[in-house]
Amino acid sequence: MMSLQPHLYAMISALSVLQVFASDMYTAAVYEHAVILPDVTDKPVPLDEALILMNRNIDVLEVAIKEAAQQGAHIIVTPEDGIYGWNFTREALYPYLEDIPDPQVNWIPCTNPQRFAPAPVQERLSCLARNNSIYVVANMGDKKPCNCSDPKCPRDGYYQYNTNVVFDSQGKLVARYHKYNLFRSETQFDYPKEVEMVTFNTTFGNFGIFTCFDILFHDPAVVLVKKLHVDTVLFPTAWMNVLPFLTAIEIHSAWATGMGVNLLASNTHNTLMAMTGSGIYAPDGPRAYHYDMETENGHLLTTQLSSYPHLSPTYPAAVNWSSYATSIKQFHVDKNTFMGAVHRDNFTFTELITIAGNHTVCQKDLCCHLIYRMVEKREDEVYVLGAFDGLHGSVIKYYWQICTLLKCKRMDLKTCGQPVTTTQTRFEAFSLSGTFGTKYVFPEVLLSGLRLAPGEFQVLNDGRLKNNNGTAKPILTVTLFGRYYEKDPPHPLRNSP
Ligand SMILES: *[C@@H]1O[C@H](CO)[C@@H](O)[C@H](O)[C@H]1NC(C)=O
Ligand SMILES: *[C@@H]1O[C@H](CO)[C@@H](O)[C@H](O)[C@H]1NC(C)=O
Ligand SMILES: *[C@@H]1O[C@H](CO)[C@@H](O)[C@H](O)[C@H]1NC(C)=O
Ligand SMILES: *[C@@H]1O[C@H](CO)[C@@H](O)[C@H](O)[C@H]1NC(C)=O
Ligand SMILES: *[C@@H]1O[C@H](CO)[C@@H](O)[C@H](O)[C@H]1NC(C)=O
Ligand SMILES: *[C@@H]1O[C@H](CO)[C@@H](O)[C@H](O)[C@H]1NC(C)=O
Ligand SMILES: *[C@@H]1O[C@H](CO)[C@@H](O)[C@H](O)[C@H]1NC(C)=O
Ligand SMILES: *[C@@H]1O[C@H](CO)[C@@H](O)[C@H](O)[C@H]1NC(C)=O
Repeated sequence: MMSLQPHLYAMISALSVLQVFASDMYTAAVYEHAVILPDVTDKPVPLDEALILMNRNIDVLEVAIKEAAQQGAHIIVTPEDGIYGWNFTREALYPYLEDIPDPQVNWIPCTNPQRFAPAPVQERLSCLARNNSIYVVANMGDKKPCNCSDPKCPRDGYYQYNTNVVFDSQGKLVARYHKYNLFRSETQFDYPKEVEMVTFNTTFGNFGIFTCFDILFHDPAVVLVKKLHVDTVLFPTAWMNVLPFLTAIEIHSAWATGMGVNLLASNTHNTLMAMTGSGIYAPDGPRAYHYDMETENGHLLTTQLSSYPHLSPTYPAAVNWSSYATSIKQFHVDKNTFMGAVHRDNFTFTELITIAGNHTVCQKDLCCHLIYRMVEKREDEVYVLGAFDGLHGSVIKYYWQICTLLKCKRMDLKTCGQPVTTTQTRFEAFSLSGTFGTKYVFPEVLLSGLRLAPGEFQVLNDGRLKNNNGTAKPILTVTLFGRYYEKDPPHPLRNSP
């Protein structure tokens, strides 16, 4: 009896564990959409003309939504600006906007379209969700009338918000989020007065939502994960890729890992604007991703992932990002460092001259350590280790701490940090770490041809980003991207008239 019981117990618990994991998966879809853009104009077009353009885009989204539903997806995310594009003055955007009510009103636009002011876009999205029994996430414009009783009311009598909406599988509006961190060129929109922490709960996890540039800031992104404990973040974006640290697939997958949360990132597709790169990212790595600078086509990704990633056996352990780097004593700070610009940021670099070695570079409070071994030291390619500890950005400034191993564009060391998309140098091993002052560090590994490296690196709980056995393709950059939110200066535009 006593000898059997533990086996039985083990068997039962193994079964129930399996059951829990089997039932706690869901299928997610993201659609990278090549937005059909309206003609550029300063003056507003008639309402019906705006609606025709929006319906042409929704026609494309409809095909993706139906396909995703057929593949069993519970939810589909479509991109920021996915219904009308981005090239607008404030006035020219107006005919594209709808008044989007607070989801508390409990509204299914598909079954009750007349309840509020005309809302053809919300009605159609709601019907697509309802008809296909799938949650639909979309980005559109919200307008809210105001008047002189509100001193902040814009002169034209409306607030215009960049807004995400979510319709559940019955077509009910369950979430509305007004983008808080507008990108500096988004002058067609107003900043919301307060940051909104928007979550909704489902049978397949607790969801949070934000938009594009929001991902680089504390509010609402970090709050949703750390205080409200969402399982999955929904992330419509119109992301312009910027090498070496801020291409969409690179930073978005790193954010999911660094924050320990699922991220469903749906990007706009427009190669002229360098917008491509969507993915379904779990904390332990991407489940699916798409990057395409070759064609002008949209693309649907559908895959399973864990509803409650923190309960999954592969959930990464908590990381102390400075533990290893502050504990080592044997490294000498390199003397042959030089300054180089990554866009407008002045990095401290040191060249990797030998086929293998240990290097340390420091800038202000940040010291970065690298141990590496290349397969071969090529004569025609240069790599550097770099450190940056400072404010990034021209208008909107925010604080970065960065340790990076990267390939210079050409042999000339002045080109280190300039965009480069292919390389040939293979590494046998690397280990990168830094004396970060922030808890928020996002580990990036980007390979030649802009490919991710799922399963090819580890993040140790002492903060080392490590590879022991090479990568499938040569390395463009290995970066620990730290965001020191506490050192961000006040926002220069928000709350100003
Ligand atoms: C629209 O695009 C044109 C050309 O690409 C650009 O010159 C103009 O500044 C843009 N306007 C707005 C409002 O974004
Ligand atoms: C939804 O289905 C109804 C009939 O079941 C149809 O009339 C309507 O056009 C459909 N709407 C969408 C957006 O698919
Ligand atoms: C001004 O707006 C508020 C709500 O925003 C509304 O209650 C009020 O009636 C409006 N006043 C006028 C004069 O339109
Ligand atoms: C979400 O709903 C589940 C039951 O479906 C419940 O167990 C869980 O506590 C809810 N989470 C939140 C954050 O409300
Ligand atoms: C991280 O590790 C360093 C060095 O071991 C230690 O001083 C620090 O207190 C740790 N931080 C946290 C949050 O545990
Ligand atoms: C970066 O370095 C350049 C050249 O040394 C200098 O002109 C510039 O002011 C520096 N920028 C910052 C933000 O320190
Ligand atoms: C680098 O440091 C490690 C210890 O951290 C040491 O074992 C190794 O020999 C060093 N390699 C070189 C090339 O200096
Ligand atoms: C390392 O990579 C080689 C070839 O890519 C492979 O044969 C070997 O099994 C790998 N070793 C480990 C420990 O993963």
